[in-house]
Amino acid sequence: MHTIRVDVGASKGRIAEAIYGHFAEHLGRGIYEGIWVGPQSSIPHIDGIRTDVVEALKAIKVPVIRWPGGCFADEYHWKDGIGPVEERRAMVNRHWGQVLDDNHFGTHEFFRLCELVGCEAYVAGNVGSGTVQEMTEWVEYMTGPETSPMGALRARNGHPDPWAVKFFGVGNESWGCGGNMRPEYYADVYRRYQTFLPQYRSDHRMQKIASGSHDGDMDWTEVLMREAAAQMDGLSLHYYTIPSTWEHKGSATNFGLEEWFTTLKKALVLEDWIQMHGEVMDRYDPTRTVGLVVDEWGTWYDVEPGTHPGFLYQQNTLRDALVAAVSLNIFNNHCDRVMMANLAQTVNVLQALILTQGAAMITTPTYQVFRLYAVHQGNRQVATKISTRDYSVGGEAIDQLHASASQDAGGVVHLSVVNLHPQKAASIQISMHQGDAPWGIAEASAEVLSAPEITSKNTWDTPNQVRIQPLTGIGVRENWLDVTLPAKSVVELRVVPMAAAPGHDEPSGSRHQVGAGKGGKG
Ligand code: AHR
Repeated sequence: MHTIRVDVGASKGRIAEAIYGHFAEHLGRGIYEGIWVGPQSSIPHIDGIRTDVVEALKAIKVPVIRWPGGCFADEYHWKDGIGPVEERRAMVNRHWGQVLDDNHFGTHEFFRLCELVGCEAYVAGNVGSGTVQEMTEWVEYMTGPETSPMGALRARNGHPDPWAVKFFGVGNESWGCGGNMRPEYYADVYRRYQTFLPQYRSDHRMQKIASGSHDGDMDWTEVLMREAAAQMDGLSLHYYTIPSTWEHKGSATNFGLEEWFTTLKKALVLEDWIQMHGEVMDRYDPTRTVGLVVDEWGTWYDVEPGTHPGFLYQQNTLRDALVAAVSLNIFNNHCDRVMMANLAQTVNVLQALILTQGAAMITTPTYQVFRLYAVHQGNRQVATKISTRDYSVGGEAIDQLHASASQDAGGVVHLSVVNLHPQKAASIQISMHQGDAPWGIAEASAEVLSAPEITSKNTWDTPNQVRIQPLTGIGVRENWLDVTLPAKSVVELRVVPMAAAPGHDEPSGSRHQVGAGKGGKG
């Protein structure tokens, strides 16, 4: 028997909506085709932006989109992407397939996308091949008053009102594709560039994000925090789950039980990186004024056979759904440090939410997880303590279950549990507490995401193979729940308190004393 103890009285604080963020780069068919079809297209659109994609993104309450890159950001010159489309200068997308980008999707189109989806903008600026002046002027163009030179240009291009930029990234992967810099050098470059980022909107302060580390490169985080923490709101971290090696990553759809295990084990390493980078950040920023921004995460496989190697197009299976679920659990459980996370990437690229083929669109298993987990956005995280069995393969073991929980403003608790085992169901006794006192349950319901095979996926012919369904057979008594999770599943439980207690505003208990699931701190 597996057990989960939920303590509604213990919290690390609020789960920022932005933890459920996304990333759309000028890469392959991500923007062009996937989001932008242009005003002349026969595919239904609003101002050139696909209606089906907008509706799908709205349905999962996408809080923020990061754009235009990735590596592309450091070769993007924003002035090429404004004004009449027929006059826009094309560019070669050198990082991603050497293809021509006609710049028809630019600043105005990006903000229109955000407006249609109802999300915040996270704009990544060009440090690698751009100047301070270019970056300053872009911020003025986006956020400055109509009376400023760039604001006037924006108005002439059809948008007199300034937009709000909630997050601005000063470069991307500046240790690699963003300029191959050393941390000491980038720390100074960051300090310089951010000095000239104007804050035009007193009603919408723009948060500055420094280009951060990846995986276990602690030195980059150490130097950046030491030299520039005072000038940043967030520091990024990139982590991709790659089942095998960088050269031969593995197939997205053709894999067995061993690769299922390896992939999930590698996905769980994200928690180690968050803890380790968080510890370095804590030394320089004990009051946690700088947020960790995991602005690229997700699975990365070999491209689908027959597709352009530079377009990073991959299918998406139930395995990806479980990677997404454990990653979101990790972010929820570390909401006291993680201020934003952005899945790579939104449409047709890497661990996509959505795949398109001409006018057709399907949502992936990963999308379904975001749909299930949207309930956590903005909630108060609550502590979970799991006692579970090992799931072992070839002498290596991980926990069979993985969880996170939150409480909404109405007092309802949302518990997300993942059963990582591909063949064994898990019977779980869940107990609900408020500190030492029992937390009485009035009612509980649940939804489950699973599928017949570990490789199950949604396709053009079978778009609903991996889908959310109700989970029945939940036993409720006093403060106890009995639930059985099918093998290889993600379950979202909704637990209503006996006396409708309003959600707490303030976290109780110290951040470090609150349990964050098995393997979590404290
Ligand atoms: O998401 C694909 C690429 O991965 C991004 O452009 C880059 O930042 C990272 O290396």
